[in-house]
Amino acid sequence: MDPRVKRTIYATTVAAVALVVTLFVRHPPTLDAQSLLAFGTLLALSTLAMMLYLRFTEAGSTTSMDFVPELGAILLLGPTGAVAVTMISELFSGFFLYREKSVLKKLFNVSQLVLAVGAAGLMFRWSGGTESLTTFRFQDSLAPFLVAVLAYFAVNTGTVAFIVSVSERRPFFEAWRRITGGLIIFDIAMSPLAFLVAFLYTQYGVLAVFLAMIPLIGLRYSYGINFELQQLNTDLLRLMVKTIEAQDPYTSGHSIRVSEAAKKIARAVGASPKQLKRIETAALLHDIGKIDSIYGEILRQKGPLTPEQRELIRAHPDRGVDIIKSIRSIHPDVLAAVRHHHERWDGDGYPTGLAGENIPLGARIIMVCDTIDAMTTARPYRDALPVSVVREELKKHRGTQFDSAIVDVLVKTDILETLDRPEVSTTTAGALIAGVNPTLGMEAK
Ligand SMILES: [Fe+2]
Repeated sequence: MDPRVKRTIYATTVAAVALVVTLFVRHPPTLDAQSLLAFGTLLALSTLAMMLYLRFTEAGSTTSMDFVPELGAILLLGPTGAVAVTMISELFSGFFLYREKSVLKKLFNVSQLVLAVGAAGLMFRWSGGTESLTTFRFQDSLAPFLVAVLAYFAVNTGTVAFIVSVSERRPFFEAWRRITGGLIIFDIAMSPLAFLVAFLYTQYGVLAVFLAMIPLIGLRYSYGINFELQQLNTDLLRLMVKTIEAQDPYTSGHSIRVSEAAKKIARAVGASPKQLKRIETAALLHDIGKIDSIYGEILRQKGPLTPEQRELIRAHPDRGVDIIKSIRSIHPDVLAAVRHHHERWDGDGYPTGLAGENIPLGARIIMVCDTIDAMTTARPYRDALPVSVVREELKKHRGTQFDSAIVDVLVKTDILETLDRPEVSTTTAGALIAGVNPTLGMEAK
């Protein structure tokens, strides 16, 4: 593990331990029967929520609802009780529920969540909130609770994004966007459930809280099934493209490589998670219009093409669109990117001669990736070209064939050098740093 990542994990752990010690010294927990019952209930809820974790973002991230009882614990038990619930349930799930082996990663997860809940609890108190096991004061608690929720997500996503940015040497905000993957809105929207937990507990007792979990379990399964279906869809598309390309040794693996590269470049130019997924799909399917064996013959042909053959080549993007538009779940952005992946920035491409930013971003990215892949793979008449040559070629055609902004990103970063390596994705970053339960954003549970 990178020494900087280790240092960050130790720092996070020390901060979490300091927070726990301070809280327990300054606000010792009440140990009467009523508090212990609430503590046990919240502990059970939190552990149950982790067992039902979701894994459904477009970037393959995970989220779980354990933050609901943990934030609920702030309303019922205050910061010290909430930190105790979080620490014990996260330690339990870190060591018994998740497959993650690294003790350091487990430590980081528990620490960052303890910090998040601790900060949220302190902010709740600071903004005038008071915990209670017997009365629920909706109006008095609402504003302090909202402050607590914001503090919780700021610390939670901030610490995870920081360690991802350290381990991948990427800007902090880029890492933050990746790990949250649009989920932060979902989680913030779910946080009033913590209010509901506190309300039900104070008004109706333990049983009511557990009954309220039933619809949540249903919600978790519907999301789970949806996610599995999306994954299956992607896997089937990849399998189909791989099978088609396997017939020709020179195209074999081309579309999968182009889609991997497109994903990295799209992320580097700031595409949103949704755009990213669509660009990846379009890149995978960009040459599906060449499924006809006639294209194989044309591509293998030595010597110049006839005008008819040239027309046929120029028709492959539209043929591709005709094929894939029958898939119901295909987004129009995917169709547009496939249709225009041979357009040039200067308008000299095909099939429609679009120019500049009128060409969809996905199509501009695929155009670059397609060319890079052609240069970096061996051909019958030459070996694969080195990255330095590829970089020069991209620069040469910057602003004519290629979008200058994309070329600039490729020239300034090390993406070209890493294209043949598996991506350090949210998934692997999750596996790299944590076991992980950052509430949102990481695979590695
Ligand atoms: Fe093509």
